[in-house]
Parts: sequence; structure tokens; C-alpha cells
Amino acid sequence: MTAQTPIAATRAGLNDAVAMIAGFGNHVSTEAAPDALPVGRNSPQRVAYGLHAEQLSGSAFTAPRAQNLRSWLYRLRPAANHPPFKPYARASLLRTAPFNEVPPSPNRQRWDPPTIPDAATDWLDGLVTYGGSGEVGAGTGVGIHYYACNRSMEGRAAFNADGEFLIVPQMGRLRLITELGIVPIEPDQIGVIPRGVRFRVELLDDEARGYVCENYGAPFRLPELGPIGANGLANPRDFETPVAWFEDIDGPFELIQKFQGGLWATTLDHSPFDVVAWHGNLAPYRYDLRRFNTVNTVSYDHPDPSIFTVLTSPSDTPGTANCDFVIFPPRWMVAEDTFRPPWFHRNVMSEFMGLIHGAYDAKEGGFAPGGASLHNQMNGHGPDQATYDKAVAADLRPFKIENTLAFMFETRQVIRATRWACETPLMQLDYDEVWNGFAKGEVTR
Ligand SMILES: [Fe+2]
Repeated sequence: MTAQTPIAATRAGLNDAVAMIAGFGNHVSTEAAPDALPVGRNSPQRVAYGLHAEQLSGSAFTAPRAQNLRSWLYRLRPAANHPPFKPYARASLLRTAPFNEVPPSPNRQRWDPPTIPDAATDWLDGLVTYGGSGEVGAGTGVGIHYYACNRSMEGRAAFNADGEFLIVPQMGRLRLITELGIVPIEPDQIGVIPRGVRFRVELLDDEARGYVCENYGAPFRLPELGPIGANGLANPRDFETPVAWFEDIDGPFELIQKFQGGLWATTLDHSPFDVVAWHGNLAPYRYDLRRFNTVNTVSYDHPDPSIFTVLTSPSDTPGTANCDFVIFPPRWMVAEDTFRPPWFHRNVMSEFMGLIHGAYDAKEGGFAPGGASLHNQMNGHGPDQATYDKAVAADLRPFKIENTLAFMFETRQVIRATRWACETPLMQLDYDEVWNGFAKGEVTR
């Protein structure tokens, strides 16, 4: 093959099967045209087909080897080939840390599910921020958003200079078209797009809704397993990374970036999805939450919910996460002489919860799929009264909690709600009442 042989790009059809590579954080080599990847070096004098070599760094060059993230991309044009970015003109309810629109509230908050907009809205314009923590400029904390949309991103792409996106679909299948390949996801799966990677979101159904954790801190990784051993929780082999895929399309493409909270737009004269080959360990990925190996008690008491951690973004303090992504999946309950639902709790960490489907076992009602709740640092929460009454009267035979999937973004920093989150009619003003009316304990002295 000569160095300048033209290559044919393919545009993926809606129902095309998409090849994926198994494994978390692997050093992948993948090419969408024969021999597009250089052999034995990253940056040869001349790249095959006249492609342009570009390194994408997701960690400092000097980060320890175990945390070092980078990929080499071989593309039709350099990513640097673009006009200046200008402020994005459309109004947005996307917000970024520090969240100081309204004073932080200690109150427990819960929201009904958001509706899908009537107007044509794509994933990017359909992002709305509940709140978040930390400080984007310092690389700490998270932004927590929902998306509700009814259109694919057409003729445009985005990237996030502020952090990585962990996308948790609740309704509707998505296809994440990224520079490094195509990642289809559906409810019960998650997708992660690294900081800086260009992407567009296509809808495979008429409407889509879900949650997003925007992680400003250390990229999500698998938690340590300690005494659990070499296997368990989210197993590395069940994560999937896309193979190289590109489109060779000339014409105007809007490219929008999120940078220090602002949205900025420019126009390219070509599709940004022109990476013909890449290798490295920085890439988007997906994981099917149904494959989570759920570990829990077989004697008494249930372990702390950290036992359900899928991914963690560590902070500089050992064991104290910038963000943990935790799920509450279907599982057997077998504990003897134990209050089986989530117990009453006050926490130095702050907890944002969402529900993909079914019912969460600490609440009898009010927490609907697509809804959300926020229990901030040191504020009491736990089972509502109906759940409590049932649990203390229950016959403790083994039973399986089925058809449910709740999740939590838990962070060491207080989650400050946005003005929108505090003022939307979706907020349940009577949430505190779920903890009213508990019978008083009686002690005779
Ligand atoms: Fe809690």
C-alpha cells in the first residue's frame, strides 16, 4: 500500500452492529483502514495515507504509569485545524462548579422526573444541571445533570474540556459517535466519554432521558477490591471500548466545547470524526450494569453501600472519593436478624441518587424512575416510614429484589443545587414528610 492511497470512509447506519473490544483501560491498537497505524513508533516522518499523528493526553505526561492515560490518533486533518471559538449563542441550563447561584441548602431535596421538551432538542441543548461540587478550575468535584431530548445532534459535535462525562441512560437508546469510535448505550448500561474527546449523541429512539456525572477530577477507574479478592463488582473484562471508525465528510460542522463552564462554538469545514486509526489507553467505553457482580452479606447486617461501587474518581485523600458511582442492582436479601433496607444514615459524604427503573428499596413512593434525590453532608436520611414499618415486621426469608436499578453519585464535597433545581416545580416541597410519624422508642427507667 502506498502512503497516499485514498481510503473509503463508512457512515454507520442506525442498525449497524458495532464492534467493541473487551477490557477496562487496555492499551488498544485499532485501525479502520489497512496499515493506517504506524508500526514500532508513534510519530513517523510520514504517516500512511497522509494522515496526521496527534497525541491526546488524559493525564500529565509524568503521571504514574498505572494512572497514565494517552492515545495516539491518526486523522485526516489535525484537530488544531479550526477557526477561533466564539461564545455559544443559545441559552442553556448547563452550569459548572463553583455552584453559587443560590446559597447551599442543607435540606434534603427530591425531584419528579423531567419531561421531554416539546421543541426540537438534542442531547447537548437538553442538558440541565441539578448541581454539583468542587471547583472546575482546580480539577475537583462533579457537575450533575440530566438530559432530555428528542433529536440527534446533527451537523455538530461537542467536547468537554472541563471533565469526563459519565452518561447514565434512563429512557431511550443512544449512540455516542466519538473520535475513537462508536459506543451504543441503552438503559442498564453506562457510557464514559473522556475529557476532550469529540463526540455527538444520536438517538436510536424518538426520545431519550438520563443522568450525567461530569467529573472534573481524576478520571473514573475501577475501585480496589481489598479482601474481596481478584474478582467481583464490575469485572474489567465487561467494559467495552470501540474500534476505530471515521467519516470523511466535507461541509460545515459546528463544534462546541465546554471550557471552564462556558460553551464556545466554532465551525469546521469537515467532520471532526476523521480518526482513521488510534492506539492507546485513553478512550470512551461502556459497561453493562446487568453484569455487575453484586457482593453482599450472607450473615447479618448489610455492608456499607460502597460495596456496590462500579467506578471511582479518587481524590488526594486515600479512600475519600471525588466521586463514586454506585448502583443498587437486583440482588438476593438473606440477612438474618437484620433491618434489610438501607438504614438511617448521616454522612460526611454527599449523596445524589437517581432511579433507572423499578423501585428503590428505601422508599415506598415518591422516588420515580427518572427522578432524583439529594442528601447532603451530615443530613439525616434513610427509609421512609412505610418502608420501615414493613421491614421491621417482615418475615426474614431469603427473597430477591428484582426489576430495579437505582444509582448514586457520592462525593466528598457538598453538592450545591442550581437555581433551576431549587425553583423548578419538579422539586417535591413535601419531601421531609416521608420521615414524619415514626413511633417513639419507649424506655422505662
Ligand atoms: Fe446515605
